[in-house]
Amino acid sequence: MSEAPAAAALPKVLEPLGEDLARVGERFAEILSDVSAESRDLVDQAARFTGKRLRPALTCLAARASGGTVTRDVATVAAIVELIHTATLIHDDILDGAQVRRTVATLNARFGDQAAVLVGDVIFSRAYRAAAWLDDPFASRYLSEVVGEVLEGEIFQDLVAWNPDLDEARYTRIIRGKTAALYEAALRVGAHYAGASEATSLALARYGHHLGMAFQIVDDLLDLCGDEEVVGKSLGSDLREGKTTLPLILWQRGLPPTERDAARALLERAYRDPVAAAEVCARVREGAAYEETRRAARREVDAALLELERVAPGEARSRLGSIAVYVVERRR
Ligand code: FPP
Ligand code: MG
Repeated sequence: MSEAPAAAALPKVLEPLGEDLARVGERFAEILSDVSAESRDLVDQAARFTGKRLRPALTCLAARASGGTVTRDVATVAAIVELIHTATLIHDDILDGAQVRRTVATLNARFGDQAAVLVGDVIFSRAYRAAAWLDDPFASRYLSEVVGEVLEGEIFQDLVAWNPDLDEARYTRIIRGKTAALYEAALRVGAHYAGASEATSLALARYGHHLGMAFQIVDDLLDLCGDEEVVGKSLGSDLREGKTTLPLILWQRGLPPTERDAARALLERAYRDPVAAAEVCARVREGAAYEETRRAARREVDAALLELERVAPGEARSRLGSIAVYVVERRR
């Protein structure tokens, strides 16, 4: 794998995984099948968020790249990671006040914050119950640590919000927790339950970490510079939430020192004023920061591809390579 794989549309890369993903979908539905009749509508609305199915695909591919197959346990851990992901998005949309995700109304928009918090909790508790019933306790033990990392990432993000001087190191710490940790987990549980060697498991986990970093960097770029119709979710929320993301850090850093004070003042206004926010977006889009942010995401993808070289070559590995390229090239 010395050359980067060509970018391909995600559905095409995932197409041959249809049966594996169907197994995961069945386990996902089974794990949620016994919620009360009263909660059913809300849980079903949440299940509609299961958009790109990236994490389940990663878990299945990790199993296959480790020489295994998508057994019931692998399908179960893939569903568990997707359920945890779904629960975090429900809570995230409440915190962000988001109205639309993956082109459908968010739970908070449709049912209110109170119901949405509780549905997130129900889904989360079902994921944990499923993990607790696996014969091998790895998923319970490991995922409890991972969820802690996600939460720490979110808490840290909150603590450093509204700070136009946030630096790259602190930004990296936030996204490593809130996003990359669960990507890493998607790969690691797939490898573990397929009986991978420690070396393969670690390489796939590292690939997942870098992929998650790249994903969030692109997500932050799209939040600032994307088109809501194309991306399919509420955008611009990072600024409104006082989040200083990588494009904003790089934009300020790239300015001549004489312009930095004015830029900082504009950014401080942009957290609360939509006109200033639009101006910041335009400056990032038109300046070097846009490409520089994409380059930062590409560096993470290169690191992810390097980790893949430690994994046995084959179809699963090459699909993982294509997913990495998709993540950085995506426009939605
Ligand atoms: C999306 O970020 C959010 C996350 C990756 C994690 C959110 C996690 C929580 C709110 C903690 C809840 C935890 C549990 C266990 C239920 P974003 O807002 O930058 O991305 P977006 O544009 O997709 O909303
Ligand atoms: Mg959000």
